[in-house]
Amino acid sequence: MRFDTLIRNGIIATATDTFASDLGIADGKIVALGQNLPAEGATNIVDAAGNYVIPGGIDVHTHLDMPFGGTKSADDFESGTIAAAFGGTTTLIDFAIQQKGQTLRTALDTWWKKADGKAAIDYGFHCIVTDLPEARLEEMKSLAGEGVTSFKLFMAYPGVFMVEDALIFKAMLAASDSGSMICMHAENGGAIDVIVRRALAEGKTAPKYHALTRPTTAEAEATGRAIALAEMAGSPVYIVHLSCSEALERVREARDRGLPVYAETCPQYLYLSIENFDVPGFEGAKYVFTPPLREKWHQERLWKGLAADQLQVVSTDHCPFCYKEQKELGKDDFTKIPNGGPGIEHRLSLVFTGGVHGGRFSVNRFVETVSTAPAKLFGLYPRKGTIAVGSDADLVIFDPNLEQVISAATHHMRVDYSMFEGIKVKGAPRQVFSRGRLLIDDGKFVGRAGHGEFIKRQRYNLR
Ligand code: URP
Ligand code: ZN
Ligand code: ZN
Repeated sequence: MRFDTLIRNGIIATATDTFASDLGIADGKIVALGQNLPAEGATNIVDAAGNYVIPGGIDVHTHLDMPFGGTKSADDFESGTIAAAFGGTTTLIDFAIQQKGQTLRTALDTWWKKADGKAAIDYGFHCIVTDLPEARLEEMKSLAGEGVTSFKLFMAYPGVFMVEDALIFKAMLAASDSGSMICMHAENGGAIDVIVRRALAEGKTAPKYHALTRPTTAEAEATGRAIALAEMAGSPVYIVHLSCSEALERVREARDRGLPVYAETCPQYLYLSIENFDVPGFEGAKYVFTPPLREKWHQERLWKGLAADQLQVVSTDHCPFCYKEQKELGKDDFTKIPNGGPGIEHRLSLVFTGGVHGGRFSVNRFVETVSTAPAKLFGLYPRKGTIAVGSDADLVIFDPNLEQVISAATHHMRVDYSMFEGIKVKGAPRQVFSRGRLLIDDGKFVGRAGHGEFIKRQRYNLR
């Protein structure tokens, strides 16, 4: 057998196994696993000694080139996917937003144009639904046949994205018919809006009030409501960017009852807390995203939730806005600060550091949360999310002992600050492959904008 690339001497780590093996790649696929694979004729030979070989990371929650709050997110599909690749992410799922009155296909067409020819890694789309007359319900079902098998709904942001329970319920019924996943932004937007208006009337305009006006109870209530609606509709539900213990408790209870309820958290909720707002002047704006940062004790509860499979996925909710000029739009009023933070680049390193080096879970659970579970939940498995003969050769040569200090001075995201500035991580990619093509080689991008392809995803089938 002839390989385009032969990776030798690595330790393969999947969600279930850890074993020493060589790995052969041909035509973008993994074609062989085994000891002492023949090197004759291999175009490239990579020595992975001392490193793990893991499936490429899958980030199922990003917002590239997204209009929001009078501006747009600072990374487009080129800069954002290159930054993702530096961190070992080889597939992402971004969100196409349906404007009210628009067809879902128009929304997708808009996002296809944003990504086409720019993305350096593979990508798919969830569709954010804001308006759902009968025709759109049918469209939801037909899109599932075209590889768009998940839809995001918002229980927050009244007047912008928020939808009412009846629409949510109808969308869940459509999802249950067509094998799609409903992703839910679970916060009680109505109650939050009242709390926010009262704070502004009292002159509370600083960034920290973004967090202080969005109580954990609002997230827990909406999480519980989303689960109840999904249970009545007979559909799966995936709670996005879960930030606190109370919401996690709702997910845990539902899963204990055997319901197809899933949830993700993000590195910012594992590493940062409301104490990050204790910074001079307006700098707290760097930590304005939704749901907001919580008290520090929630972090350990989230790590435990990941270890116990109460939480299945770590995504980033990457939604970068520069501090200068973009976050500054809210200088006099925290409600005008564009919501979102940059994180696409450091997910694997942060989860490996806190999870594996932190003694909280195994390398296999690490792979599961950053690659395999997202692939399974969002219809990419086994093409992606694992290391097996026949799977795409999306691979990361991951050095478990490589130390880095996260900083805006060295990151590759197109944003002028880092949420994780100064945090030391241990464990980072040495080389990153997408469909057999080398993208990252010891800190250098050697891939190409436009290499990334739209991936048609399968329907949800985990029941
Ligand atoms: O603050 C955030 N999370 N911005 C992105 C939009 C969302 O709600 O995911
Ligand atoms: Zn959201
Ligand atoms: Zn988001």
